[in-house]
Amino acid sequence: PVLVVDFGAQYAQLIARRVREARIFSEVIPHTASIEEIKAKNPAALVLSGGPASVYSEDAPGIDHDLFDLGIPVMGICYGYQAMADALGGVVANTGGREFGRTTLTTAGDGVLHSGTPEQQPVWMSHNDAVQEPPPGFTVTASTPGAPVAAFESLERRMAGVQYHPEVMHTPHGQQILTRFLYEVADLAPTWTAANIADALVEQVRTQIGDGLAICGLSGGVDSAVAAALVQRAIGDRLTCVFVDHGLLRAGEREQVQQDFVAATGARLVTVDAEETFLRELSGVSDPEAKRKIIGREFIRSFEGAITDVLGDRAAHGDKVDFLVQGTLYPDVVESGGGSGTANIKSHHNVGGLPEDLEFSLVEPLRLLFKDEVRAVGRELGLPEEIVARQPFPGPGLAIRIVGEVTGERLALLRKADLIAREELTTAGLDNQIWQCPVVLLADVRSVGVQGDGRTYGHPIVLRPVSSEDAMTADWTRIPYEVLEIISTRITNEVPEVNRVVLDVTSKPPGTIEWE
Ligand code: XMP
Repeated sequence: PVLVVDFGAQYAQLIARRVREARIFSEVIPHTASIEEIKAKNPAALVLSGGPASVYSEDAPGIDHDLFDLGIPVMGICYGYQAMADALGGVVANTGGREFGRTTLTTAGDGVLHSGTPEQQPVWMSHNDAVQEPPPGFTVTASTPGAPVAAFESLERRMAGVQYHPEVMHTPHGQQILTRFLYEVADLAPTWTAANIADALVEQVRTQIGDGLAICGLSGGVDSAVAAALVQRAIGDRLTCVFVDHGLLRAGEREQVQQDFVAATGARLVTVDAEETFLRELSGVSDPEAKRKIIGREFIRSFEGAITDVLGDRAAHGDKVDFLVQGTLYPDVVESGGGSGTANIKSHHNVGGLPEDLEFSLVEPLRLLFKDEVRAVGRELGLPEEIVARQPFPGPGLAIRIVGEVTGERLALLRKADLIAREELTTAGLDNQIWQCPVVLLADVRSVGVQGDGRTYGHPIVLRPVSSEDAMTADWTRIPYEVLEIISTRITNEVPEVNRVVLDVTSKPPGTIEWE
């Protein structure tokens, strides 16, 4: 892999993503990793990330100078660039030329890194110190007003560095420049394609599971579907998928799992029909947290029951189920400090609460992938677009989109309204702009309306379309009025209990994406 050495800025993950966009596998590694650990990963190149420190401050994260003697290509970015300059014998100083934000980079014509990009281009900067002199043997290839040495390179040593941040979108040619480092300076070939990833992961799962048996919970979401499809391809019928239908899904989602997923993968599927139980347990409850608790508890109960059935069934044939498949993604792995990949199930929060005597090894085939890669692998495995491109949907489902008590009738009418909104947003070609669009039923609110010759006293439906990168923050999506009009007209005509459609124009913060 290309190892992105994380010097404590928020950019390391983003750099890793960008390297993968150049179709080269990359991983983030903390700067505290020893040179032995780094060597053990057999890196194709190192990228030293930015970081908050000054190379001269006492607590500046150190960089082992031997790193530069391994014969491995290196690219330094921002702090990583300065640390590299310092380690290789260049001069870094604080001369007051600090730059924060957009600035103009002027490139020298003969550099390999910037070749093919404009001589003058905007770049994103964030630095106090600046490199004054490049290390011996390195050529200066660009400058900015505050950084006379804004980039250097040595083709002979296969090393280069830039003061600015090529990974952020405010540096419009950044991806091209990073890619040039990988292809032209480090001499790497693009091999990280969906087909190769899928093949490699299938092989890896096969090795991990051996002759064992595995089970996987399907939620209807992208991650669990792709994880299951990979494991199915690796071990076939020795995987059993469990789908708990809690009756809180949207229109068509049960069919997507039971028909489309099974048709595409040939997976063995056990469906637990738990709708009645969930509705019974939820009756009379309108507090959001209480709803979540009940749903979490009942979900585990149903899942556990299904596992026990599968185990019993298979154990009768002398088999043992040792593996539980999870759709954990790379951002979760990086954020939790990286884990070993096998853990006792009871400590795992996603399915915590299973009985202690059920011990599984976790199979997490997606733990090195970003979401867009998961989708690409899903397509590669032949999963239909409805599953692969599905927008995020909360585990507690429509229950937290009914403000008030959850009942079968309310679920049915919300399902109708939600389907109309989804259909019209898709028809209008807005799916790419929208991260997700909760459709919320204000079941405890009624308002007066008029329809035909009569007065109505119905419920409002709220549309909550949001745009977001990661659901941590979000903005409300500016849906064209004409599209809103169609959705509103259709919902009030086709769902008799609804006589008003309103639009939520709150960003997050202060509003959350969901209403509960
Ligand atoms: P909020 O409402 O907190 O939502 O802005 C952020 C993202 O998380 C989803 N969400 C959940 N997902 N279980 C889940 O699996 C939950 O209980 C849950 N609550 C919110 C929400 O849809 C959005 O994508």
